[in-house]
Amino acid sequence: MEWKIKSWKDYQTAYKNSLENTESFWGNVAETFLWQKKWDKVHSGNLTEANVKWFEGGKLNITENCLDRHLKDRGDKVALLFEPNDPSDQVQKYTYKQLHEAVCKASNMLKAQGVKKGDRVCLYMSMVPELLISVLACARVGAVHSVVFGGFSAEALAGRIEDCGAKLVITNDAGFRGNKTVKLKKICDEALLKKECASVEKVIVHKRVGEEVTMKEGRDLWWHDLFASQSSECKAEVMDSEDDLFILYTSGSTGKPKGIKHTTAGYMIWAAYTFANVFQVEENDLYWCTADIGWITGHSYITYGPLLNGATTTMFEGVPSFPDAGRFWQVVDKHKITHFYTAPTAIRALMGAGADFVLDKDLSSLKVLGSVGEPINEEAWDWYHDLVGKKVCPIVDTWWQTETGGIMISPLAGITKEKASFATYPLPGIEPVLVDEKGDEVVGDPAEGNLCIKRAWPGMLRSIWGDHNRFIETYLSTYKGMYFTGDGARRDEDGKYRITGRVDDVLNVSGHRIGTAEVENAINEHPFVIESAVVGYPHDIKGQGIYAYVIIDEEQAASDIKDEIIGEVNRHIGPIAKPDKIQFVTDLPKTRSGKIMRRILRKIACDETDNLGDTSTLLDPSVVEKIMDGKI
Ligand code: WTA
Repeated sequence: MEWKIKSWKDYQTAYKNSLENTESFWGNVAETFLWQKKWDKVHSGNLTEANVKWFEGGKLNITENCLDRHLKDRGDKVALLFEPNDPSDQVQKYTYKQLHEAVCKASNMLKAQGVKKGDRVCLYMSMVPELLISVLACARVGAVHSVVFGGFSAEALAGRIEDCGAKLVITNDAGFRGNKTVKLKKICDEALLKKECASVEKVIVHKRVGEEVTMKEGRDLWWHDLFASQSSECKAEVMDSEDDLFILYTSGSTGKPKGIKHTTAGYMIWAAYTFANVFQVEENDLYWCTADIGWITGHSYITYGPLLNGATTTMFEGVPSFPDAGRFWQVVDKHKITHFYTAPTAIRALMGAGADFVLDKDLSSLKVLGSVGEPINEEAWDWYHDLVGKKVCPIVDTWWQTETGGIMISPLAGITKEKASFATYPLPGIEPVLVDEKGDEVVGDPAEGNLCIKRAWPGMLRSIWGDHNRFIETYLSTYKGMYFTGDGARRDEDGKYRITGRVDDVLNVSGHRIGTAEVENAINEHPFVIESAVVGYPHDIKGQGIYAYVIIDEEQAASDIKDEIIGEVNRHIGPIAKPDKIQFVTDLPKTRSGKIMRRILRKIACDETDNLGDTSTLLDPSVVEKIMDGKI
């Protein structure tokens, strides 16, 4: 691949070229993929008009690029390595040939159930090979996949099914997670009872645990009954470059989660290009990303990115703490993993468990370490670098978002000179800028501001499912002609970027995005709750914790309902959004126009009360004192 960056000089040339000769640059990358018909135009549209297109007129199927393309040279190479939850259970391996076969069978299974191009299919599954196979099977038949993380509640699942109008759901009987099982089918049944889910005609259940489940006649079917008899050949559907590939829901600062919509060719090129250049995986390497396929990281860097590059991808069913805090390192040792990609929250948790869990494993196979999902603090970075990477493995601190499709700002392994806690430099094609509150670009280094991207890139979201106006409002209206990330950043004297965190009302808890409004809405469902306000505060392991200020009906005894409030959050969203602290208050600080001043609540939760800033616009400043007195 002549586009693979191999040196700092290559990077500089590629970066310059990507901005100056955008069309020929991406055209050359795209040439190395398999097309049923070449594109007419590499790029058209712009951020101002929200009409971005890449490789318009091209025809392709992403799975032919993930699988068929490799059969000749890599047919017997392992494509997928599956490490089960229980270390003594069977490891599974699929070669490219076997994965191709499995995906074809699953595609035929979907077709036999009436799934057609453009239909939405919801995947609510645990981390088993059949999830990755289902993702690819959807793409092969042209169905739009929408994976919902297995930790979301029935109500959250129902909301997503309703929004995308899924025709079919694939789930597991249950999933293993550490020493627990998650009853996925049961939760799914509960979701499907709701009238919002009327679009669902069929449910395919893959048996993983052997959990007893109820199968609804005419609707529910077992994977094993359908799969085995299918033909192992399935012609890939012809997709237009801009046909929808998937929807993935993510939280914003207001309202319900947004269905982020990605299309086929641009996403494919971006996932493939960024994977190859950031991780620098070579032919015999063994790559492992610990994310769940329910998040974007699992889409781009467990599924599409590695397979598009003919790499071996590892899928892990379990959790970092089971059977003990040495599990990650034991897996690295067992399989001789070369590339390891995880989230800072996991690093911090394992760091807390002590060095012994690391030191008794052989980690000498490791070549590259990666970090994703939240800012990595220097202490965690140093621990990762020194203890896991033995001071020789480069760390790629990759900044990106569900919306960006793939990595945007990151060191390239072994090429970019890294700096602890800095995502460093933009990938080719990415033009980041920092803007001040007025929306003016901050020029020169060092600088600080809100992070925006100045021009369209192939992997960017094309819209929010069913709500193009919300897409424009959320991302493209705050700063004219730019994509607004919602993150703040600093640039040092060398132009390296450090992402400082969200500047909107989105929390990042253990690397999971959670909207404060969603948590508030859930809390407010409790009959005794009058009003609530949720903010984030620094948490040693999770990065951010959730702090909820809650006003309840005076007649009710406060302490009794904390668990019930948590229950509401579990019911409406899922355990990942559980408040860490709940403080009952009698009032919230509001402006004269009735707006809650979150800035103040944030400062109180963060113990930064020395300087509360201007409180003169408050309707009743004494409220602040009272809240501070009751701080937990
Ligand atoms: C945050 C995850 C600092 C950021 C891929 C972003 C990061 C949000 C980093 C997107 C990083 C992601 N350093 N912050 N390396 N990577 N973030 O959509 O706030 O789940 O906006 O995508 O995570 O989260 P999402």
